[in-house]
Amino acid sequence: MGVIASLSAFDPRSSGAGFIRDLFLLVIAVTSLIFILVEGVLIAALWRNRRSQGPDDSQPPQVYGSRPIETAWTAAPFLIVFVLILLVARSLWDVVRPDPSKSPPGSEPLVLTVIGHQWWWEYHYETSAGAPLNFTAANELHLPASEPHAARPVFLRLQSADVDHSFWIPKLGGKTDLIPVRINTLWIETEERGLFLGQCAEYCGYSHARMLLRVYVDEPEAFQRWVKGQQQAAADEPQGRAGRDLFLSLSCMNCHAVRGTKAAGAVGPDLTHLMSRETLGSGILPNNAENIRRWVRDSQKLKPGCLMPAFTLSDQELDQLVAYLATLR
Ligand code: CUA
Repeated sequence: MGVIASLSAFDPRSSGAGFIRDLFLLVIAVTSLIFILVEGVLIAALWRNRRSQGPDDSQPPQVYGSRPIETAWTAAPFLIVFVLILLVARSLWDVVRPDPSKSPPGSEPLVLTVIGHQWWWEYHYETSAGAPLNFTAANELHLPASEPHAARPVFLRLQSADVDHSFWIPKLGGKTDLIPVRINTLWIETEERGLFLGQCAEYCGYSHARMLLRVYVDEPEAFQRWVKGQQQAAADEPQGRAGRDLFLSLSCMNCHAVRGTKAAGAVGPDLTHLMSRETLGSGILPNNAENIRRWVRDSQKLKPGCLMPAFTLSDQELDQLVAYLATLR
């Protein structure tokens, strides 16, 4: 799987990001033209009337209250702004398409709710082609790629659990804020497979810069397999039982959910399939046993200010917890 690591909005890989890039280039072109025109006339006037041309202290002809000139320089900017408003409105219409039922016929829309938290991402997979999915994932977003004969538009309903955040995968779509008590929408459709990177783009507190986004656009079959895996309850393996009992006896379960156990907390990420993710802490660390251990021992060191407290656990308890978490594939 290719990593599309660049964060450039000038290299769009989805139709929505394409509309935004085109609009941006057009506005830049129009405003550059105005800039060059105005500065050109100004510089030409300064040059022509410079003092070294000779001691001419006469006044240039004064034009005041000329109706044609006044009309021209009112109408021209008005027309330019009006055309730009129309173009922005049309692009906005293309970019914000909130209603999955208005997808082109034959397409299979995927509907997701995205919730921003300080400082991680929660994803509820709601429906695919109208059929319920009903599972929750965190931090790493998997989407199906569209194919020429089967469009897979993805509709995101963006919400926040605390403060304003902003969802931004520059190559896949416009930056859209997640605001408490409000639902914003965004849709993504792309044929490009791979890992797309992004970043929370609205300052949201101490660890805002540690709120990274990872979007995996999978082959449709691979996406289907991933969904099947995520819908399973957590694995129950003998080598994890001691750690699981510890997990359920500590306050872990108040904040985290592990489907198939009584842990159903919704304050922190769902851990049912923790090991299916490549990173920890919303993209800040590779996901492996050593980093899970560091995270559980003192997450405040890795993500200052996060809601997870540092646990004072013995080495043996840490070993058991890490052994349990490593079974959550
Ligand atoms: Cu969330 Cu910045």
